[in-house]
Amino acid sequence: MAGGAMVNSAGGKDYPGGLTLFVFFTCVVAATGGLIFGYDIGISGGVTSMNPFLKKFFPEVYEKKQSATGTNQYCKYDNQLLQTFTSSLYLAALVASFFAATVTRVMGRKWSMFAGGLTFLVGAALNGAAENIAMLIIGRILLGVGVGFANQSVPVYLSEMAPARLRGMLNIGFQLMITIGILAAALINYGTNKIKSGYGWRVSLALAAVPAGIITLGSLFLPDTPNSLIERGHPESARAMLARIRGADVDISAEYGDLVVASEESKLVTHPWRNILERRYRAQLTMAIAIPFFQQLTGINVIMFYAPVLFETLGFKGDGALMSAVITGLVNVFATLVSVFTVDRLGRRKLFLQGGSQMLLSQLVVGTLIAVRFGTSGVGEMPKGYAAAVVLFICVYVAGFAWSWGPLGWLVPSEIFPLEIRPAGQSINVSVNMLFTFVIAQAFLTMLCHLKFGLFYFFAGWVVIMTVFIALFLPETKNVPIEEMVLVWKGHWFWKRFIADEDVHVPAAAAAKGAATA
Ligand code: BGC
Repeated sequence: MAGGAMVNSAGGKDYPGGLTLFVFFTCVVAATGGLIFGYDIGISGGVTSMNPFLKKFFPEVYEKKQSATGTNQYCKYDNQLLQTFTSSLYLAALVASFFAATVTRVMGRKWSMFAGGLTFLVGAALNGAAENIAMLIIGRILLGVGVGFANQSVPVYLSEMAPARLRGMLNIGFQLMITIGILAAALINYGTNKIKSGYGWRVSLALAAVPAGIITLGSLFLPDTPNSLIERGHPESARAMLARIRGADVDISAEYGDLVVASEESKLVTHPWRNILERRYRAQLTMAIAIPFFQQLTGINVIMFYAPVLFETLGFKGDGALMSAVITGLVNVFATLVSVFTVDRLGRRKLFLQGGSQMLLSQLVVGTLIAVRFGTSGVGEMPKGYAAAVVLFICVYVAGFAWSWGPLGWLVPSEIFPLEIRPAGQSINVSVNMLFTFVIAQAFLTMLCHLKFGLFYFFAGWVVIMTVFIALFLPETKNVPIEEMVLVWKGHWFWKRFIADEDVHVPAAAAAKGAATA
């Protein structure tokens, strides 16, 4: 076959070369970037339900919590400052991802990961040593900068390193690490809550330094992607790197040729931020905004951030609430594995549609179960068996998310942009994600207080909208090489009208193949 390219079932091309050990290890190291994000998501909910922590930093919440028995369960944690503790991180990540876009493009993906890890390390130290709210929040902001850099660079790195037909699997390594981070945080909170002298929360917060250390050191050993090397004017190193990651006896000429073409085109683009607004990128821009927005509007972070608080609201006492967070954390990890092994076979769309339906059903059940017991007054008790049923359906919901919107919310945006607008596109993705993570973190306790059980119906409504959106507007992207993604949009019933024929540049290898068959 000319140039070594093969046509695959999706109508795109496969390049030769499978999963080499080298790619596997670099991807594992890079994916640990997800650990820092996950650890953060999981740690704050547990810490904010610990009494010594509340007493020191949020005495009003502590008082209210102590006197809340027999009164409105929905409102006992409603406090702006407490929500700011959780949410400040995501605002910082939002701003940082824009700077990270430039670092990722100009200096390469690897230095972005390094910068992220290092800032995160400082944030963890500040948080563990915090004496007042200011130290706490400044620490959270530094952690956020770290997350912004890591989330900007890691998904793109993974998608660029992976052979096209394993891209889904390798990219989901990022989400898998996020879920492992969340689970580790839940377990650590469960343990540190038992520390008698009351400094357990410090241990929880300071241990964020462990995942940060891993990605900081790990990134120093990572090679940069061939795509980034070419983009930064090192074609020979790029070719050598591609040969190394695809395997010594593999003919890489087709893939390399396509990378060069993609890079030539990207050089014509001097303003990626302005370019992404062009009509021909309308599909990608829409997805870069809609996917992260919808991912957050599934309501997942209500569970992830506030699971212990939520479970306490439902009547679980201290330990029981932290334990339930461990249970949802375990479900989250194992259900993510399902997508690791199915995403490149079943495809993205099937997972999105199935996961969406499962989340919808379980949200309706959870909302109703809570409504029956607490009604609108928020006063009531939940018998053990009943509470167990609520936890069960929350787990069904988490599983649905964990094999659909969780991983795909990062995978799809990282694989749909042409090189010239990739860092800009990824920034939009990260920042929209962070913006709505922030909004949910900031508003959840207040929303719970006002919408009560209706909060679950609220998110269920959004899940209906997003599932219909995917069904209508997202084409299947499994197995399609990134450089050929434009063909997928060009073939879509809706998006094709935005792409003129001359916008479709056939990469060198495909052209050669076309000429050979003509
Ligand atoms: C989301 C996070 C969420 C996590 C749960 C990620 O994909 O971006 O907001 O907390 O999944 O596993």
